[in-house]
Amino acid sequence: MTTIGDPTGVTVQDAILRADKVTMRFGGLIANREVDFVIPRGGIVSLIGPNGAGKTTFFNQLTGMLQPTSGEITFEDTSLVGRTPHEIVELGVGRTFQNIRLFGAMTVLANVMVGHHVRMKASWWGSLLRLPAVRAEEEATRQRARELLEMVGLSRRYEEDWAKNLPYGDQRRLELARALASEPKLLLLDEPTAGMNPGETAQMTELIMRLRDELDLTVLLIEHDMKVVMGISERITVLDHGELLAEGKPDEIRANPSVIEAYLGKGATTA
Ligand SMILES: Nc1ncnc2c1ncn2[C@@H]1O[C@H](COP(=O)(O)OP(=O)(O)O)[C@@H](O)[C@H]1O
Ligand SMILES: [Mg+2]
Repeated sequence: MTTIGDPTGVTVQDAILRADKVTMRFGGLIANREVDFVIPRGGIVSLIGPNGAGKTTFFNQLTGMLQPTSGEITFEDTSLVGRTPHEIVELGVGRTFQNIRLFGAMTVLANVMVGHHVRMKASWWGSLLRLPAVRAEEEATRQRARELLEMVGLSRRYEEDWAKNLPYGDQRRLELARALASEPKLLLLDEPTAGMNPGETAQMTELIMRLRDELDLTVLLIEHDMKVVMGISERITVLDHGELLAEGKPDEIRANPSVIEAYLGKGATTA
């Protein structure tokens, strides 16, 4: 059992991921300082905080893009520290990026199929020889990619278009479909509604909740839109200047003295 750094003393019995005292230094700058963090299995949790608080840096350590200076990160009893991004995807942690990273000159369908690559068993020789088993696996991947496109609400009409020609909101959906193709247990979303209008934002929020239920996912999101955060999150972690400021349910976060003090302190200095 794991007790998380929360004034209410909530206990998480089944954590899919936990971070213990994660610290990340960039030269003299401490982007994350001894951050403790727990994600309950099946939950939707958010990481919030002002610009530069260290959210993306923390994410990048969960996905192997950065290695912590010190601390431990455990996913289902396996340490993620020292693993490559590819290995972490293989273990079942999928992600999208704050800035969209699609293969612009590949088709929409191909972008999703690439996401499934880590799950494909066909050997390099098998692909060269076009063995029947390889062709069957490729066909199954194509089929699954189409299902995922449908699940995220992208029309079949677009599947042969180049990804870069999709409207912005659809590119974000495509990124989500590609992340899902890796069959994650834990999905990390870095600002999934960034740049969206209120209508698109509401649809994306609804989609994330539906995907969690339909695919048995656990979701961690970084989000700046407070309406999204308060509407979707079961628990929220607040970072400020690289440190854990608060953790709790949405209502608890709003009423948290440290959060209010940080906000008032900021208001006082900018007034
Ligand atoms: N690769 C890097 N090298 C040096 N400093 C970095 C690097 N990445 C982030 N930082 C710094 O770390 C701090 C936290 O950044 P970031 O994690 O991107 O914050 P957030 O996502 O909360 O806006 C910022 O001061 C940022 O300038
Ligand atoms: Mg960021």
